Amino acid sequence: MRILSGIQPSGRLHIGNYFGAMQPAIKLQDEGDAYYFIADYHSLTSVHDGKALRSYVRDVAIDFMACGLDPDKCVLFRQSDVPEHCELSWILSTVTPMGLLERCHSYKDKIANGISPSHGLFAYPVLMAADILMYDSDVVPVGRDQKQHVEVTRDIAIKMNETFGAGLLKLPNPRISETTAVVPGLDGRKMSKSYDNTIPLFEEPGPLKKKIMGIKTDSTPVEEPKAVEGSNILALYKLVASQADYDTMVADHLKGGVGYGDFKKRLLQAMTDYFAPFRARREEIVADKGYVEKVLAEGAEKARSVARKTMARVRDAVGLGA
Ligand code: TRP
Repeated sequence: MRILSGIQPSGRLHIGNYFGAMQPAIKLQDEGDAYYFIADYHSLTSVHDGKALRSYVRDVAIDFMACGLDPDKCVLFRQSDVPEHCELSWILSTVTPMGLLERCHSYKDKIANGISPSHGLFAYPVLMAADILMYDSDVVPVGRDQKQHVEVTRDIAIKMNETFGAGLLKLPNPRISETTAVVPGLDGRKMSKSYDNTIPLFEEPGPLKKKIMGIKTDSTPVEEPKAVEGSNILALYKLVASQADYDTMVADHLKGGVGYGDFKKRLLQAMTDYFAPFRARREEIVADKGYVEKVLAEGAEKARSVARKTMARVRDAVGLGA
């Protein structure tokens, strides 16, 4: 089974990225032949600062490995080290109906959030289709917000196969981890960089405390029972606490007598404990000079050898080259 996923290096990774996409991808590395890449071509649709982009790429690689991604078990690479992605994207774009892209939610959402509506932003799902189809991927672990893009990828693959020959490209399936696909942010909306409501994965203790203590809550007095349904604190706590501790917090909500400040302190503790081993691993990786570059170079080599084969097949089918 070929597994593939990408993550955008558009800034600091947050726990929504972790629980929504990274953790499921890391679990899958033991189940098949996994290819994971840092989607820097995609990030160019929102980051126009070369120095910043390059450092985000490096940070994503470090963070991903700190969280358990093992480059001995999967191929980790930088998208732009495999320029074949852009070539395939162009070819796919020539069979992609405008209407298919016009229906994509993420384009509309991004524009609504102030990202300028460039052609790249509009065509972004085609590049994502190229990423996926390049590796004959069976399974694509993604957060719920990306499910539509995997469906678009299937539609594009069908169109290519109808146009240029059955079996040219393999149809992928999305894999959404239903339990953790939506992580609430500090304000209760989906955690997202564009809402400015994130908890960064490797946040320093001071700012982390400030963020957690600042989570929005209602004005139920301490003595009274508190709503379990829709509680932001509980939803986040569930991700990082043991089942027993979670059950206790639910019971304390129902009973009343415990204030939100207390719940937030428990959340802060659980979150700190949960990510402590990742933090330690991160320091080791950073201390190992040249390690990240070596991993990415080896990953690029492996990814590129697959990409070259796919492109030979596609170029032959569509009539490019001799
Ligand atoms: N668009 C994805 C996101 O923003 C990142 C991505 C790019 C991706 N190419 C991909 C994910 C291919 C899965 C497969 O999260």
